[in-house]
Amino acid sequence: MRLERPSLKWETEHIAYMKEWDEERMTPSSFHLKEDIPYETYLEDLAAKEAGLGNRVPNTNYFFVDGDERIVGMVNIRHSLNDYLRQVDGHIGFGIRPTERRKGHATYLLSEALNMTDQLGIRSVLVTCNEDNVGSAAVIVNNGGVEDECFIEPHGNVVRRFWIER
Ligand SMILES: CC(C)(COP(=O)(O)OP(=O)(O)OC[C@H]1O[C@@H](n2cnc3c(N)ncnc32)[C@H](O)[C@@H]1OP(=O)(O)O)[C@@H](O)C(=O)NCCC(=O)NCCS
Repeated sequence: MRLERPSLKWETEHIAYMKEWDEERMTPSSFHLKEDIPYETYLEDLAAKEAGLGNRVPNTNYFFVDGDERIVGMVNIRHSLNDYLRQVDGHIGFGIRPTERRKGHATYLLSEALNMTDQLGIRSVLVTCNEDNVGSAAVIVNNGGVEDECFIEPHGNVVRRFWIER
């Protein structure tokens, strides 16, 4: 398993992954594909977002790819925290394709992402999940997450917040 940066090479696989995704919202949202947007344009937009377009902090996206060149998961690494990230989304967002869940992939993906935050010099890594996301919480705890106070969003959603010290 390895991390790969998005590029034209992954267009077909990325589309297949999108079709398989069964939740309402793509996670991480940076990997959402709109049907009427050419992949080249998606990649250009992604590069602008990674550089900090709008109110984003600089961030990096990776596919998590297996030995058969299949995208198994996706991860977005934020290089620093702003107020919103500190309360809700944290440094790292990740997802695993539905047919590949419950095989330990997310636990491994988060460990690989933590190697990337090490390289960025981030010593305290914030990783969050919604209160009802038992699987995500287990993945975070598997990687050394220590729970901090939760944050309650204005619409009532409870966000669990974990710090991983490196
Ligand atoms: C949450 C998610 C990333 C878990 O991925 P995964 O590859 O299935 O996770 P793992 O196989 O590494 O599982 C880690 C642990 O969580 C448990 N787990 C995973 N999914 C679970 C679920 N739905 N319910 C209960 N436990 C679950 C596993 O049994 C495992 O437990 P263990 O370490 O005690 O053996 C995946 O379900 C997903 O992509 N969900 C949608 C997007 C999302 O929620 N992303 C996280 C946002 S913070």
